[in-house]
Amino acid sequence: MLQPMDLADGRVDDNIAACEDGLKRLLNAGHAQPFLYAGNGHGAWEAVIANLLGPGKTVLVPGTGHFSDGWAEQCEALGAKVIRTPWMPGLPIDNQAVGEALLMDRNREITAVFAVHTDTASGITSDMAALRQVIDHTGHPALFVVDGVASVGATPIDMQALRANVVLGASQKALMVPPGLAFVLADEEALEVAKANPNPRYYWDWARRHSPLSYRKFCGTPPHPLLAGLRAAFGLIFEEGLEPMYSRHRLLAGAVQAAVEGWAQAGAVAFFGQVQATRSVSVTTIAMPAPHDPEALRTFVRERLQVSISGGLGPLAGKVFRIGHMGDLNPAMMLGCLAAVEAGFHALNVPHGPGVVRAQALLAQALRTN
Ligand SMILES: Cc1ncc(COP(=O)(O)O)c(C=O)c1O
Repeated sequence: MLQPMDLADGRVDDNIAACEDGLKRLLNAGHAQPFLYAGNGHGAWEAVIANLLGPGKTVLVPGTGHFSDGWAEQCEALGAKVIRTPWMPGLPIDNQAVGEALLMDRNREITAVFAVHTDTASGITSDMAALRQVIDHTGHPALFVVDGVASVGATPIDMQALRANVVLGASQKALMVPPGLAFVLADEEALEVAKANPNPRYYWDWARRHSPLSYRKFCGTPPHPLLAGLRAAFGLIFEEGLEPMYSRHRLLAGAVQAAVEGWAQAGAVAFFGQVQATRSVSVTTIAMPAPHDPEALRTFVRERLQVSISGGLGPLAGKVFRIGHMGDLNPAMMLGCLAAVEAGFHALNVPHGPGVVRAQALLAQALRTN
């Protein structure tokens, strides 16, 4: 029989410990300290802003699109000064611009570089190892903070190899858990910067949450169901194995890309991401300019075929649609989604080349056993 759980139940602590261990193992986080919050991705953003920045502090936010803009805006709303590098639609972070911005900062005022790994709006993944090298080459001491909301669990992030000082994320994407759990892993250097930072904070404060007592770790009631969910997700992740999980993501992304290449032959749709190697394994953004309407396509596949695809965010609203392919997905589910989109093209008279058959062929080739 299931036993009820209260705040003092040892199983709460077990779940918290399993989630912390799972995150550290998944991200090869070494001695970094995990912090879990009842919160979403914006909560994780606020946690790093509150601990590392504050009024008058400076942060460099490389342009990736909607999500770098959102993070930068949140930093400014909390009083920080933001230096942005330009966002080039369809392209990843401009590393040269990042290097130049760091070199210009002769007084070393930039506390951190806040980099979005996979921008979920553009569907583009920037190369974090290359960005690390750029920071190193400038000799700038800025902390390196990585937003892994859309990449943790879909593509490898090795916090120690990257020498990322902070990695943050949330439960609802490749970690397969409902929204509501945010996390931050902070290394010793980041914890030192936070310790010396007088910016007032309470809920997000790393020092206040640094405790073996579970209610302190959550500044109150822990979100039990989400912790139990994340623990179960780590069970699935480590049972599948990290490399097989990442290779499944690459395979499914490849199937989606094969379909988009086929559809694009008729000229009505196109990849938003201009460089094949930077198209994300988590989500594919597909441009569908006027006279065709991505929102009509979304409505058709949702209401008639019970398939959910996403729309454009920020400047891409009404101009693109997005197919998510991260987390608990298999090839048949992916083919179902692609077939629904293709049916939507037929229904709405959107010219398209053959897409689903190309995805089928790619999967058949990759999965054959002889
Ligand atoms: C890369 C990235 N960062 C941050 C966020 C913000 O997360 P949330 O919507 O959970 O606040 C998102 C949301 O999709 C995201 O994709």
